[in-house]
Amino acid sequence: MTKIAVSGKGGVGKTTFSALLAYILTENGQQVYAIDADPSPTLAETLGFPAQTAAQIRPIIEMKELIAERTGAKPGEYGSYFKLNPRVDDIPAQFSATYRNIRLLEMGAVKGAGKGCACPENAMLKALTSHLLLQEQETVILDMVAGAEHLGRGTAQAVDAMVIVVERGSRSLKTARTILAMAADLGITNMWIVGNKIRNPEDQDFIANALPQVKIAGWLPFSNRVIDAERSGLSVYDADPEFVAQGRKIVGVILSNGGSIWKT
Ligand SMILES: Nc1ncnc2c1ncn2[C@@H]1O[C@H](COP(=O)(O)OP(=O)(O)OP(=O)(O)O)[C@@H](O)[C@H]1O
Ligand SMILES: [Mg+2]
Repeated sequence: MTKIAVSGKGGVGKTTFSALLAYILTENGQQVYAIDADPSPTLAETLGFPAQTAAQIRPIIEMKELIAERTGAKPGEYGSYFKLNPRVDDIPAQFSATYRNIRLLEMGAVKGAGKGCACPENAMLKALTSHLLLQEQETVILDMVAGAEHLGRGTAQAVDAMVIVVERGSRSLKTARTILAMAADLGITNMWIVGNKIRNPEDQDFIANALPQVKIAGWLPFSNRVIDAERSGLSVYDADPEFVAQGRKIVGVILSNGGSIWKT
């Protein structure tokens, strides 16, 4: 029943790691909820969902009538009164699709002026995220949108662990520091760094030296097989046994250690 959020700069490997994590967590037979919270969803492909299965997934934000019905807002009349706590408990099952014990849900994109607004769409997403993190009796993986600004208080406080994926490069490390600072403000206590696309020991040292006080859950190698998998529609989990072995080590570290953001 672990809830793990995955964040980091754009392109560092959040979705790759989320997919790996989801598969590894199914290995003891449990069902895992994977939530694609990125407005440009790619988790289905990265999980290797067959196209037919992926086609069953309905991004929640696109369900205009459902949102109107549940929030009490009339479409086109947004700005008027709407419920901040719409009923959502039946939604995950209806709009998701399941493949190899992974149930995938896509949040979808709030378009145009609606971004970050106090509107029915966002009320719906917030209620759904809270529901999945607080009520669902299952393991939940949340593949977040790049950056840190979407880290809400509700999400932050409901996750058991947040993983920040980084690669060697000052921008990804800068984003990691911003996320860490925000997370600390929001009261998240269990934060981990995962170094991805590691090519040599220097890459590891570079990251470790740049974030000297933060807990590092482990390292994932740069893998041409991971890149090839993307082209062939294979899941990252099936692409590279060495990559998966490293992923298992990381999951072991995260699950066996609670505690604070900072090294003690
Ligand atoms: N360890 C790795 N080795 C080689 N390529 C990788 C590795 N991890 C991820 N990639 C590649 O890097 C690209 C970005 O990965 P991914 O989509 O997982 O990142 P992301 O952080 O989710 O990106 P976005 O911010 O766009 O959602 C993909 O092409 C992916 O195949
Ligand atoms: Mg992604």
